[in-house]
Amino acid sequence: MSPQFYRVSPSDFSEKCQRNYWLWLLMLICALQFGFVVEAQQDSLESPFLQWEFRASYLDDDGSFRSRDGRITGSISGDLSLKNSESGVSLLAEGGSGMLLLGESYSKLKDHLPQRELTVSCWVSQDEILEWGGLLGFLQDNGDYEKGWVLGSTKGQACLAIASKGADDGNGKLTYLSGGDPLQPGRWYHIAGSYDGERMAVYVDGKLVAESNDQSGDILYPDRAPFVIGAYRDDNEFHPHVGALQDFRLWKTALTAEQIAILHRNKPACASADPPRPPLKFTVAPWLQWAEEDGITVSCETSMDCQVVVEYGLNSELGKAARSSASGRMHHVKLSSLEKGTPHFYKVTAIRKGKGEEVLESPILTFQTKTDADQAFGFMVVGDTQNNPQVTAAVTDLAWGHRPNFVIHCGDLVGTGSNKREWVHEFFAGASRLLQRVPIYPSLGNHEQNAQLYYDYFTLPDPEYYYDFEWGNTHFVVIDTNKPIRPDSDQVRWLEKTLARSSSDWKVVYHHHPAWTSDENDYGNTWKGSSTQGVTAIQKHLVPIYEKHGVDVVFNGHIHVYERTWPIRNGKTVGPGEGVVYITGGGGGGHLEGFAPNRTWFSNNKRVDHHFLIVNVNGKQMEISAYDIDGRLFDRIILD
Ligand SMILES: [Fe+2]
Ligand SMILES: [Fe+2]
Repeated sequence: MSPQFYRVSPSDFSEKCQRNYWLWLLMLICALQFGFVVEAQQDSLESPFLQWEFRASYLDDDGSFRSRDGRITGSISGDLSLKNSESGVSLLAEGGSGMLLLGESYSKLKDHLPQRELTVSCWVSQDEILEWGGLLGFLQDNGDYEKGWVLGSTKGQACLAIASKGADDGNGKLTYLSGGDPLQPGRWYHIAGSYDGERMAVYVDGKLVAESNDQSGDILYPDRAPFVIGAYRDDNEFHPHVGALQDFRLWKTALTAEQIAILHRNKPACASADPPRPPLKFTVAPWLQWAEEDGITVSCETSMDCQVVVEYGLNSELGKAARSSASGRMHHVKLSSLEKGTPHFYKVTAIRKGKGEEVLESPILTFQTKTDADQAFGFMVVGDTQNNPQVTAAVTDLAWGHRPNFVIHCGDLVGTGSNKREWVHEFFAGASRLLQRVPIYPSLGNHEQNAQLYYDYFTLPDPEYYYDFEWGNTHFVVIDTNKPIRPDSDQVRWLEKTLARSSSDWKVVYHHHPAWTSDENDYGNTWKGSSTQGVTAIQKHLVPIYEKHGVDVVFNGHIHVYERTWPIRNGKTVGPGEGVVYITGGGGGGHLEGFAPNRTWFSNNKRVDHHFLIVNVNGKQMEISAYDIDGRLFDRIILD
């Protein structure tokens, strides 16, 4: 072939050039094609062991949902649904109790779970920042028992938790590895976590945000745990995701950083548009606090940032309006210039600006301002509503039947103060029908853990853990018995001063822990020995103050029973009006407790049952009634 090149004429040359041009063009096209092939090869990855795409074709009528290859079938529950939007079909969690449960037995799931190396990834939008969020995992983290793994989030940051055999401290030890900026609501993120038997890594949008060598060796699994998509769930915690989910993948190998970057680049069609968002809801329906003669605070929590307007008036036409000061989710709107002791009507409207305004309205509700000092009034006493919304709903609904002016709560509103879900889905869910019409004056129990959420939900006078208020002719004083109660502590010095200057007809103190109780085992096991019959520090430091300043009644919770003492002074029972009556009202929902086998010196009436109290005050007469979970009166005392 080559000699011919030496014999070309100019015209031949021109013809050859043209041929070469086409040849070069062909080569260029091939090269480009080849390049694309190389690129395409670079962006192809080994198939995941399990993959879930949230399309209707994988969902059956009974809520069962198959992985892409049909290898594993789970069940969709709660408020999870497939949502068709600009970004295609994704799984939308509205923040109720939804999840996709894939199984719970390790022995049955063993073949589906990675034994040593692992990569897990998904596309996610997060509309609520959870302290503990779960996307896909099989985990138990109960006290010191820590086994399994989960890909999720902590406080909005992407997170991978793993327990391995190499870091086992006897009952497992999890490393929660998180990093990167908190995920912003209303946009898709690609989150991935990997573990290669030595190193954990977390990636957000294809970039490494955290790594750790704390774990080593095979993954350490619990015998039983929920293998679950869309929630952080184990035996004692359940935090459902809020937002959209798509394209879950699980490998039994540890993908490299480059492969995870490719995963991010190969985004599914759904992730190329804004994610669908749950509809605007009241996370906590409107509730009332801090009533005054001319004002009250209307609070609510919304599922997304928005502005809140409270319309109010003396009839259902409303007519006046007050607004939340800023856009947010927790709203406390103070209404002022109201009429004293008067029924009012109100309605809360939440407005979310954005792509199309979204508006949410409460029904028209009612409240009443603080009554005149000489007017009779009544209030509910409840305690220890913790972890039992059904009982909380029952006792608060029954109390509503008595139309109290307000509610005092003796603490342990929830079982875990730092667990938002318990506030939303247990305490407020149970008590909402009462609290939307009647203001609450809470106190801190040990189960509140002094958590920020308590202070977020309630607006009380500084420093909030202790405060006082007057209603009618009665002075109410609230103490936090979880904090120091020595004579030199802030709150005890304040307590002395507050009671000393009180001129009210009735003085009522409430706090969580009991001065006196016939409980069987909280202050010594009475089935085997003696008991201090209450908190000795309260007996030593607070009781003398109550006696000195003529406190009439002390309400407490903590012990999940009802008990009323005789009037007490100087460590002895005394006649009516000569001492302080102590009433334990810990019957709002927490598991019931029992009494000591022998009668205590101070006890008058006792009952093991869920219950609540209604206290009616009319001038120099105070009538205290205790009702059981069926609304039956079982104790009544009239002080005068
Ligand atoms: Fe309790
Ligand atoms: Fe308690």
